[in-house]
Amino acid sequence: MKDFTKPHRISSLSEYTTKYDHSVADPEAFWEEIANSFNWRKKWDKILEWDFNSPDIKWFLGAKLNITENLLDRHLPDRGDQVAILWEPNDPKERPETITYKELHRKVCQFANAMIANGVEKGDRVIIYMPMVPEAAVAMLACARIGAVHSVVFAGFSSNALADRINDCDAKMVLTSDGNFRGAKTIDVKGVVDDALQKCSCVEKVIVFQRTKTEVHMEIGRDLWWHDAIKDMSDQNEAEEMDAEDLLFILYTSGSTGKPKGVVHTCGGYMVYTYYSFLNVFQYKPGDMYWCTADVGWITGHSYIVYGPLLAGAATIMFEGVPTYPDAGRFWEVCDKHQVNQFYTAPTAIRALQAHGLEPVRKHKLDSLKVIGSVGEPINEEAWHWYHEQIGKGRCPLVDTWWQTETGGIMISALAGITPNKPAHASLPLPGIQPIIVDADGNELEGNNVEGNLCVKFPWPSILRTTYGDHERCKQTYFSAYNNMYFTGDGAKRDHDGYLRILGRVDDVINVSGHRMGTAEVENAINEHAKVVESAVVGFPHDIKGQGIYAFVIAEADGIEEEIRETVSKMIGPIAKPDQVQIVSGLPKTRSGKIMRRILRKIASKDTSNLGDTSTLLNPEVVEDIIKGSK
Ligand code: PRX
Repeated sequence: MKDFTKPHRISSLSEYTTKYDHSVADPEAFWEEIANSFNWRKKWDKILEWDFNSPDIKWFLGAKLNITENLLDRHLPDRGDQVAILWEPNDPKERPETITYKELHRKVCQFANAMIANGVEKGDRVIIYMPMVPEAAVAMLACARIGAVHSVVFAGFSSNALADRINDCDAKMVLTSDGNFRGAKTIDVKGVVDDALQKCSCVEKVIVFQRTKTEVHMEIGRDLWWHDAIKDMSDQNEAEEMDAEDLLFILYTSGSTGKPKGVVHTCGGYMVYTYYSFLNVFQYKPGDMYWCTADVGWITGHSYIVYGPLLAGAATIMFEGVPTYPDAGRFWEVCDKHQVNQFYTAPTAIRALQAHGLEPVRKHKLDSLKVIGSVGEPINEEAWHWYHEQIGKGRCPLVDTWWQTETGGIMISALAGITPNKPAHASLPLPGIQPIIVDADGNELEGNNVEGNLCVKFPWPSILRTTYGDHERCKQTYFSAYNNMYFTGDGAKRDHDGYLRILGRVDDVINVSGHRMGTAEVENAINEHAKVVESAVVGFPHDIKGQGIYAFVIAEADGIEEEIRETVSKMIGPIAKPDQVQIVSGLPKTRSGKIMRRILRKIASKDTSNLGDTSTLLNPEVVEDIIKGSK
C-alpha cells in the first residue's frame, strides 16, 4: 500500500528534536514543506503574515484550494476502495455501516448538489444539529465542498442555546434529524429545532435526515427530508475554489462572559495542521483502524474524527452510542469488533468506566490496540494508570493531548511511542508550537520547575482567526492579557524534566466532563427563573466529571432547587445542569460589589478550614451562613 504520509510521520525521538528545532528556527520553511504535499489549485504568494496585537493572522496567503479535494478526490486513485468512515450504531444489534472513500465522495457531492439546489451559496452559514450518524460528516464536508460555512451545534444543546447560535451567525439553513438514539433513550431532535426556529427569522430551509423514524412536524415550504433532497441529484460536484483564508467553519464555545463565542477556523491552515498533528500524535499508518469517541459537535470531533483522519486517508470510526450501553463494556467490545488500533477518548469516560470495575474489561481482548489517547481535561494519575494498564495493557503509549477549540488541533502531547509519556503530563509541544509559561506580569518563566499561565508566542496554522461577528472580543479574550502572545486561559507547570503539565483553567470557565462551561453563562440561565434574585456559580472537584457545577442562589422562595436545575437545562442543555444548588441569604461581596468566588469555590469544595483573606468582605456574616447551609 502506497504510504503518502510517510515523509511527514516523525519516527524517532532524535527526529522529533531536529524537526522541532527547525520548526522554531524557520517556521515558514517548516510548514511550507508539509503544505506542499497537498493539492492546491494555486499555491501561496506568502506563507505567513501575523500580528498578535490586532490580531491579524494569515497563513498561505493567496493560495486557492478546496479542502474536500484533499480529503476525498485526492485519495480516489490509490485509496478509493478503502474504508473512510466506519459507523457503529447505538444498538449493537444494528449493522455497522462501512463507507469507502469513493462512496463518501459520491455522498458528499450529491448532498452538496442538494444544498445548492436549496439555495445555499458560497459564504452562507449552515447549522448542523445532528446525531452521530455518517450523514453528519457528509453534511460538514458538503458545506466545505460548496464553500458554505458550517457551524455544528452539539445535539444535546437546548432550543434556546441553538437559537442563539443560529442567530449569531445568521444561518440560512439547518441540517438536522428526526430524532437521536442514545443508550436506551430516543431523543427528540427535530422538535428542538422547531422550537428554536420560532426565534430565528434567518433560516430558509431545514433538511431532515431520517434516523429514528419518529413522527415529526414538517413545515411546508421550509422543511424537506434528506432522502427527498438528494433523490434527483448527481453524485458529481465541481468543488468551489476557496481562498486559504476563507472561513471553513464556526464553532461556538464558552468563555468567561455570558455569551458563547463563535471561534472561526479557515481552510488552508486548518487543513495542514489537523493532518500533521493527527499523523504524528497517533502515529497512524495505512491499514490502521482509528477511533475517536468524541461527538462531532465539539472541536475534537471536527479535527480528529472528520478532517484530520480523512486528510490522512485513514479509516475513522463514528460511534452513535454511549460508553455504558448496553453495558459498561461497550467501548471495549467495539475495539475488539472493529480491531481498533488507535483509541482516543476523554478522562471523564475513563473514570466512569473505571467505577464499573474490571469485569466489563476482562471480557474483551483489546489486543489490536497500539495507541490510546486522552483529551478534554486534565487526566488524574489514578485514571491515567488504570487506562494505561487495564486498557493499554501497559504496552500502548498513552497520549495526553492538550489543545482547545481555539487552537484547532493538538498542541502539547507525546507522539505515540516516539516521545516519552509521563502520567498526567501533556508533555512536549508538537513541532511548530512554541508554548511559554508566564507570570502575572507576562514575564516568561524559563527553565524547569516553574508554574504560571500558559501562552503561545508564535502562530501555528490552525490558530483561530477571529470570533465571528466580534473581532474585538477575540482580541480581548486571547491577545490582550499579555503583550504579543496568545493566552490559553490555562495554568501550566514545567516540571524538573521539562515536561508540561496542564493545571486547568485560571479564568471563570469550568470543565464538566470535558465540556467547557462559562460560569457567567450558567448564572444567566439560572437568573431566568422568575424567583431568582442573584446567583453565583463555581466549579468543584467531581470524581467522575472532573468538575461539577455548584450554584449559590439568592431566591424569593424555598424548595425551588430542582426548578432551577430544570431552568438551566432548558436554557442551555442537560450538560449544564448544576450538580448542587444551594439557596443562600446573601453572597460574599467585596466593598465594590464583586462576588468573592474564591470563597465560594472553597465552600463548594468542602475546604473551609482556611478561607484566606476575608478582610475586604462587605458582609462576612454571610459566609458562616453559607457554610452551615452547605452541610
Ligand atoms: O482547560 C483545557 C482543557 O480543555 C480546554 C479546552 O476546551 P475545549 O475548547 O472544549 O476543547 C476540548 C478538546 C480539545 C483547555 O483550555 N483541556 C483540553 N485538553 C486537556 C485539557 N486540560 C488538560 N489536559 C488536556 N489534555
